[in-house]
Amino acid sequence: MSKKRPASRHTPKDHGFSTRAIHAGEERERYADAITTPIVQTSTYAFKDSKEIEAYTKHGKERFEYGRYGNPTELVAQRRLAELEGAEDCVVFASGMSAIVTTILTLVRSGDHLVITDDAYKKTLEFCSAYLQRFGVGCTIVPFGNYEALEAAIQPNTRFVFSESPTNPYLNIFDLERLREIARRHSVLTVIDSTFSTPLNQRPLEWGVDLVVHSCTKYLAGHNDILAGAVLGRTELIDQIRDLHKALGGVIDPHCCYLLLRGLKTFALRVERQNATGQKVAEFLEAHPHVKKVYYPGLPSHQHHDIAVRQMDGFGGVVTFDVRGTLATAKRFLDALQLCFIAPSLGGVETLITHPGIVSYYDYSRKQRYNLGITDTLIRLAVGVEDADDIIADLDQALERAARRTRRK
Ligand SMILES: Cc1ncc(COP(=O)(O)O)c(C=O)c1O
Repeated sequence: MSKKRPASRHTPKDHGFSTRAIHAGEERERYADAITTPIVQTSTYAFKDSKEIEAYTKHGKERFEYGRYGNPTELVAQRRLAELEGAEDCVVFASGMSAIVTTILTLVRSGDHLVITDDAYKKTLEFCSAYLQRFGVGCTIVPFGNYEALEAAIQPNTRFVFSESPTNPYLNIFDLERLREIARRHSVLTVIDSTFSTPLNQRPLEWGVDLVVHSCTKYLAGHNDILAGAVLGRTELIDQIRDLHKALGGVIDPHCCYLLLRGLKTFALRVERQNATGQKVAEFLEAHPHVKKVYYPGLPSHQHHDIAVRQMDGFGGVVTFDVRGTLATAKRFLDALQLCFIAPSLGGVETLITHPGIVSYYDYSRKQRYNLGITDTLIRLAVGVEDADDIIADLDQALERAARRTRRK
C-alpha cells in the first residue's frame, strides 16, 4: 500500500523571485474573478454614511479616502516591490526623481548635512548641491570609491550618505559592506539608488543599507513607456517618507501603476536576458579594434569586478565604452546605427544608446565634462531584449562605418 505523502509546506513565503514578480502583493480573489489587478481609476473614495467616516477617522478602519493618500492599484505595486527587494515597506512615486527628492527632504532639517558620491545621477547631484543649500542643508560631494574621503566628510550633523551602485555611466560598484561599517561607526543613515542593478541583481537592504530608491521607469517597468519611482526600507522610515509624499503630492497615476505591475510580471525574464546580453556585448566590444575601452562590471577588466562578483547576482544590461577617435567619430557611430535607438534611459525592451557628452552633459563645458570623466567618445549602451546577435551586428556595422568615414575625412 502506498504511503500517504505529507502535504507540501511550500507557502508564498517560499516562492522564488520570478513567482513573486508575478504574484506578490495581489489578493488571490480579485474583482470579477479577473486574473489581472484592476486599474482603480478614481481620484476619491465614497463613504456610505457618517458612521463609516468615523469608523475610518476615529477607529482605524482600513480603507481609501483620497487619491493622493493611496490607491488599490498602487498598493499592490508597493507590496510587490517590497517583496522583491526584501523590504518591510515601499512607497511608489510618479518618477524616480520624485522618490529621491521626497526621501531626501524627509531625512533632513535645516542645519543638517549629507554626503553624496560624485558620479550619482546628474539631477540628484544638482538637487543635493544646489537646491538643498537654499534650505540650509549642507552637502559634501566625495569621489566615488574613496572610502577614506567619505568617512572624513561625515560631520556631527550628517544625516545620511547617498550613493548609487552601479553608477552611471562608469558602472562603478559601491562596496556596501564598507558603507555599512562606516555608517555604523558614525550613526548615519545610508541610501542607495539601486536603479541600475534592480532587486534581481543586488539587494542593498541585505547588506545593511537603510533605504533603497529606484527609478522604476527603467528595468522594473521595463517597456520605455512610463515614469515611476520607489523607495523601500524599514516601516519606521517609510512611514515618514509616505507622510511627506502625501504633502508633496508626486503620486503615480493608477493606470501607470498597472503598467508597472504588468512590467513586473516579466521582470525576472527580461533582466536575466539583459544580464546575458550585456555580458556578451561587453565581451564583443572589448575585443573590437575600433573600441578603446569598455566599462562593464561583469568583465575582469572592470575596476570593481571583484566587488561586483561578491555583491551582485548579475551585472545588468548597461555597457559603457569609449570609441577610438574623436567626438566626430562618436557622432558618426551614433548616426550609423540602424537597430539601437539614440535615446537616454535604460532597462526597457528596446536597446537604447546615448552619448552622455552631447545629451546629459550638453550644458557643461568640455573641461567640466572631462573633470567628471565624460569624454567626447564615451557611449552608454542599454541593451533591450532583442537577440544579442542583432544588437552586436548593429554595433559592429556602425563602428566600421564610423571608422571608415573618419579615415576618409
Ligand atoms: C540612476 C538614476 N536614478 C534616478 C533617475 C531618475 O528617474 P526618473 O527619470 O524616473 O525620474 C534616473 C534617470 O535616468 C537614473 O538613471
